Order: sequence, then structure tokens, then C-alpha cells
Amino acid sequence: MIGDLTQLTLRRVPSAPSLQAYNAADELVIQRLEAHVGSGEPLLLVNDAFGALATALASTRPDWWSDSAMARQAMEENIRANQAVAPRVIDSPGDLNTQYSLVILHAPKSLALFDWQLSVLSAHLIHGGECWVTGMVKHLSRGHQKIMQRHFTQIDPGLAVKKARCVRLAQPLAHATTEPLRDYVAGDSTLVSLPGCFSESRPDPGALAFLNVFDQLPLVDRFVDLGCGNGVLALNYLHRHPTSQAILVDESRQATASAAASAERNGFRVQIAHNNGLAGLALEQLPLILCNPPFHQSTTLTTDIAHRLFNEAARALADQGEFWVVGNRHLNYHNTLKRWFKQVTPVSQHPKFVIFRCTGPAP
Ligand SMILES: C[S@@+](CC[C@H](N)C(=O)[O-])C[C@H]1O[C@@H](n2cnc3c(N)ncnc32)[C@H](O)[C@@H]1O
Repeated sequence: MIGDLTQLTLRRVPSAPSLQAYNAADELVIQRLEAHVGSGEPLLLVNDAFGALATALASTRPDWWSDSAMARQAMEENIRANQAVAPRVIDSPGDLNTQYSLVILHAPKSLALFDWQLSVLSAHLIHGGECWVTGMVKHLSRGHQKIMQRHFTQIDPGLAVKKARCVRLAQPLAHATTEPLRDYVAGDSTLVSLPGCFSESRPDPGALAFLNVFDQLPLVDRFVDLGCGNGVLALNYLHRHPTSQAILVDESRQATASAAASAERNGFRVQIAHNNGLAGLALEQLPLILCNPPFHQSTTLTTDIAHRLFNEAARALADQGEFWVVGNRHLNYHNTLKRWFKQVTPVSQHPKFVIFRCTGPAP
């Protein structure tokens, strides 16, 4: 039985009561599934941002694969709220079932991630199986189309409904599925990035502006890089202070895997957590937290996540601890940071980015 999205209790992570936890692409998938005459199982859901499909399709016992710790948390909360059966969670391609009859994939924004996911998934379909790529029309670019053509012979774009599309792909072409790695140098470090990692092909200009003031950072015995991406901040700190203990946190598995590869490339041992912020990590009395915060969630621009991270950083800092954060000048973090820190001092004159030193976490 397929659940009706409008009848389910579905919430986002981070919580945003005014925003729906599913969109027209999810509705279109459900509509197409009702008319689908394939064998139905086994089914795999990929990049299901808030677990809406996992909840609606729980009775089909799907497998569920996502890069995001926030998506996983949302999926688990929504499954519980609807007393549905949890899907089998896939952490890495090694956990995939050998043969799916149907894969439903929300097209990710990163073309490199899309390319890699399709190359993996095309090798995990039964004979006659299909992969449905879904998303809002404005987010399905020519680049996405070219990648679909590279991996499948049969492509049926179907009709767009409510500005969403569900493209049916069949007859996969065989390709090698080695995960491509990219690397570049930023500051003193070589950074390795897997597909979908933030700044996978070149360093982020905000991170580079931040590196320019690294000589002003305090020397501490341990620190956290919050939203570490490929580890550019933590590893550059370690090049200056190699005896410090680094804890790198990111909600994207492609990011934490990239950070692990980067740490190895630079010869450092670090602790890495795939986690939604600092929640549940039992980190307290920290002397230093570095952060280049996210300003979007998938394709949506938002400062909500950054604000949550600021709040968590303030709670995890020691009284004398320092939170260093870089932000785009126009985001006006100067004012928002004052909600959580008594002193917020700008330390750079970069025209586009501001680096703040925040101390005195407010209780
Ligand atoms: C602007 S990027 C910075 C990455 C890297 N530190 C740099 O400077 O290039 C923000 C990072 O935060 C991560 N992120 C987003 N939301 C998060 C959350 N709730 N918890 C942990 N990390 C998160 C993203 O995956 C991304 O890697």
C-alpha cells in the first residue's frame, strides 16, 4: 500500500514548520508508482531529503541511501511519527542489494555526485529494471541530461507535472564504477574531494580568506572543525600546530570521507564524525571551534542551519574558548552571532568575507 503524502505527518530537519517536507517531485513519483506495472520490489530510494518517500512507501520495505545525516534524522523521525517500518539504510555502495527492480533517485545538485551515483546504480538493476530520476524541472540541467545519456540507453522524460519531472531510465550501459577523486592545494594542505563534497573542484573563497588570518588563531590542545567539508580548515590548522587533536564534523558522508582521505594525504591522524552538528557528540569545554557554515540546504538558500551551528558551538565552548567563523559580508552574521556570544570581533578586512572571533558564550 502506498501512503498518501498529504495524510502523513512529515517534518523537515532542521525543523521548519512553515515548509513542506515533500515536493511536487515526490507527489509525481507516487502518482507514477500507482500506475507502475513492474515487479515493484526490491526498491531503492536515493537522496530522499526528509524521508517522505521512505514513509509513504514503507510497506514495500525499501532500501534507503543518502549522503546526509540530516536527511537520515528526518527520515527516522518521520518513520516514527507515522508508526511506519524503517527502511534498510545503505551507508555505502558496498551495502547495496545486488539487484533492484526499481531505483528512485532525487537528482542531486552536484553533477559529479549524480554521475557517480548513476554509475553505481546502473550496475545494481535487475534485467528490465528501471531507474527513475526525479526533481523540479529547474534543477534538472542539461548536465544532468548528458549524464543520464551516458549511463542509460532508454530515456523517457515523461510529462512535467506541477513543474516537476520523473525521468524513466532503462537499459543501463556498463561503465567502471571507481569513485573519482579530485585534489588541489589550499594553504599548506593538499585536499582530496569525493563527488558531492563541498568545494570539490576548487577551494572555497571564504575558506581561503579564513586561512589568511590563521596566524591569529590561538594554540590549543584540541579543536573542532564544524562543517569540515574536505578538511581544509582543520588540516591547515594542524600544519601550524601538529600536536593539537582535531575533531572534524560534517553532515555529508562524502565530506567526511573526503576529510578522512585528506587527513591521510597530509599525514595527520584526526577524529571524524558524520553527524548533524554537534548534537549527541558529548563535546564540551572546547577551547576552539572553527566554522565555515553552510548557507544552503540542497538547492534552498538558508541561514537556519548556520544559526543552529552557532548555538551548538556556544554550548560546547569552554568559558574562555573561541569560536572563529567566516561568513559572506551580506549575511550580516555580526548581528546574529551576538545572540550566542558576548564579544563578536571582526578580524579581517576582506571585501567579500568577514572572519569573526567570538568569545564569551552566552548562557
Ligand atoms: C560552506 S561548507 C564549508 C566546508 C569546509 N569547511 C570549507 O571551508 O571548505 C559547509 C559544510 O557544512 C556541512 N554541513 C551542513 N549542514 C551541517 C550540519 N547540520 N552539521 C554538520 N555539517 C553540516 C556541509 O556539508 C559543508 O561541508
